[in-house]
Amino acid sequence: MAIRTFLLPLSTLLLLAASSAVAQLEIGYYSKSCPNAEAIVREEMMKIISVAPSLAGPLLRLHFHDCFVRGCDASVLLDSTKGNTAERDAKPNKSLRGFGSVERVKAKLEAACPGVVSCADVLTLMARDAVVLAKGPFWPVALGRRDGRESSATEASNELPPAFGDVPLLTKIFASKGLDIKDLVVLSGAHTLGTAHCPSFADRLYNSTGGLVDPSLDSEYAAKLKSKCKSIDDGSMMSEMDPGSYKTFDTSYYRHVAKRRGLFRSDAALLTDAATREYVQRVATGRFDDAFFRDFSESMIKMGNVGVLTGTDGDIRKKCYVLN
Ligand code: HEM
Repeated sequence: MAIRTFLLPLSTLLLLAASSAVAQLEIGYYSKSCPNAEAIVREEMMKIISVAPSLAGPLLRLHFHDCFVRGCDASVLLDSTKGNTAERDAKPNKSLRGFGSVERVKAKLEAACPGVVSCADVLTLMARDAVVLAKGPFWPVALGRRDGRESSATEASNELPPAFGDVPLLTKIFASKGLDIKDLVVLSGAHTLGTAHCPSFADRLYNSTGGLVDPSLDSEYAAKLKSKCKSIDDGSMMSEMDPGSYKTFDTSYYRHVAKRRGLFRSDAALLTDAATREYVQRVATGRFDDAFFRDFSESMIKMGNVGVLTGTDGDIRKKCYVLN
């Protein structure tokens, strides 16, 4: 099955964002209650990213991990309590970063408009602004998400896609969130930003006798990775996921994947599986950057609508890490 690349005009993206109305979200939701909300987030994000450009990836990833567990309800931001191990303490979330930045932006919003802007909306806007500041696309964000009251490490471990996933498994997980196979191959393009720890990919480099395990990985690249990542459980080392431009949102991720240099099995699978290969190869040509930016915007709008709480459901947390 081929996945087609559509070139969507901004007006279509606006319509798509507005159709978040299905999820009862609205463009300009805070226009009366906190008119500067988006500007405050943008201003703080400019300060954060100018000091620490490598935080763009982690902030985008936080939003993804939020939306895939209980929907985009800021449940990933809650701390564990005496009786409850929260999402952020689940194994796949141990490498999440950027929590301090979210609290900083939220504190600015609380100072301007107390109790109005949800942590879930803050995180969605921060993820969008992170992409824009990394030279990626802008998309309109419909707002009005409310914050959940529950957060479970077990749910996070069960519902987040694993790095070893193949396309059928990943498609199934994405489908359970209302996202399709095109969203899978497009959103995986987020791996143009950021870094990963060895244990996320070292099973492709080492087996019990030390030989190269994963034949879908380019052997020259594997040798480079092995020189950094000395053993299967080397937790200290990190590798750029899009070597050479890991702080810039661009299409070079697809060129790495097309050359069998995707870092995770889940990235490599996009090339080996016929259903996603054509998209990877087409974007890898470098002739469809605009189309990819539109596709990414469209899929991010869809992801930002997953399982949202609206109306009188949930809360507006005062601090994102703790319930009111
Ligand atoms: C398709 C399924 C996906 C899998 C299996 C996956 C898996 C992973 C893993 C294992 C890491 C590295 C963690 C570490 O070792 O530190 C990572 C990093 C990252 N992921 Fe994904 N991911 C997927 C989809 C996504 C999506 C949909 C997004 C965003 C829209 C995303 C954004 C990121 C970013 C930006 C990083 C780098 C974070 C940093 O620099 O700290 N990923 N992902």
